[in-house]
Amino acid sequence: MSDRRALITGITGQDGSYLAELLLDEGYQVFGMVRRASTESSERIAHLAGRVTLLQADLLDQFSLVGALEEARPTEVYNLAAQSFVPTSWRQPVLTAEFSGVGVTRMLEAIRMVDPSVRFYQASSSEMFGKVPEAPQNELTPFYPRSPYGVAKAYGHFITVNYRESYDLFAVSGILFNHESPRRGLEFVTRKITDGAARIKLGLADELRLGNLDAKRDWGFAGDYVRAMLMMLRHHEPTDYVVASGEEHSVRDLVELAFEHVGLDPERHVRVDPAFVRPTESDRLVGDASKARRELGWEPRVSFREMVEMMVDADLARLGERHDVTV
Ligand code: NAP
Ligand code: GDD
Repeated sequence: MSDRRALITGITGQDGSYLAELLLDEGYQVFGMVRRASTESSERIAHLAGRVTLLQADLLDQFSLVGALEEARPTEVYNLAAQSFVPTSWRQPVLTAEFSGVGVTRMLEAIRMVDPSVRFYQASSSEMFGKVPEAPQNELTPFYPRSPYGVAKAYGHFITVNYRESYDLFAVSGILFNHESPRRGLEFVTRKITDGAARIKLGLADELRLGNLDAKRDWGFAGDYVRAMLMMLRHHEPTDYVVASGEEHSVRDLVELAFEHVGLDPERHVRVDPAFVRPTESDRLVGDASKARRELGWEPRVSFREMVEMMVDADLARLGERHDVTV
């Protein structure tokens, strides 16, 4: 049995599912923390049933975290659980802060109590940069978060840095820029667009309503980004890294690419709906991952175009029909 044991919080999420696959491939014993729900939420990890051990705990409940650590006895903890949808953070700002901010402290305290030799990964976010003074952003760019989610993540980020410096924990933050996949939640813009394009192509819908088409993001493939998490915990020194592709695209570019892939004209189907425009926006997020490339040897493998096409194709397939798409 492997002496590498990993506990993943948020294992039922997009990143948790890819990370669990990667760690299993690397020979780890994988434990996943799940919160209790009245219906099943483990669709993304259904194919890993029997290979990962699920433990019930919640970032809101300190004792449950201690219990999960005592049961799993991990050598590494990946803290991916969070309220991760930015618009929800204006509707539930306190809950977002509890999950995505203070929840990090609860986990760090549990680690100090159970086993301070655990290596800890915190899922920090480019959303912390918000209103940016420079582009691209790197590890030294100051934070000016533009959403309650970004503020909560900045707290989670700095408490991780602080526990590393205060208690000499091996605790690192990955400042990850947007990363996507066919497993992305349907409410995020990439998936909303690829699902929308596929529905319109199949005659299941005629219109796609979106918010700010001018926002720019640095979008990569989730499978590439979870590899960086593992590399950070294997590195000899605990330090924080930006993980990004370095390419920026607007939401409009994304729409054009997805619709082009299914041979449709977005002008005929995409409408701007103020309901999806945010009170404050991060207008331009694009990352400089040269530190991760240099020190970890990390490189993304899937391009923006490949990722968008992969997502559109997966949505076409899921919605019931395989189309031989030629454009
Ligand atoms: P996701 O798909 O929304 O998954 C979030 C996970 O957190 C789910 O497994 C969810 O469980 C769990 N969770 C939420 N609240 C919890 C609680 N109180 N206790 C226990 N579990 C809880 O998010 P993701 O895209 O995989 O992102 C993973 C992490 O990276 C998040 O922290 C996110 O903020 C951060 N991040 C993501 C990106 C990105 O572009 N994807 C970029 C930077 C940072 P349920 O299934 O029960 O809801
Ligand atoms: N969701 C959504 N829906 N976003 C839209 C829409 C829409 O209809 N129309 C335009 N957008 C714009 C948003 O205003 C934002 O500028 C951009 O599309 C991306 O939105 P999301 O896909 O919701 O992602 P996000 O950038 O807000 O947050 C994601 O990335 C962060 C890293 O920067 C999430 O995964 C966060 O958890 C993550 O930390």
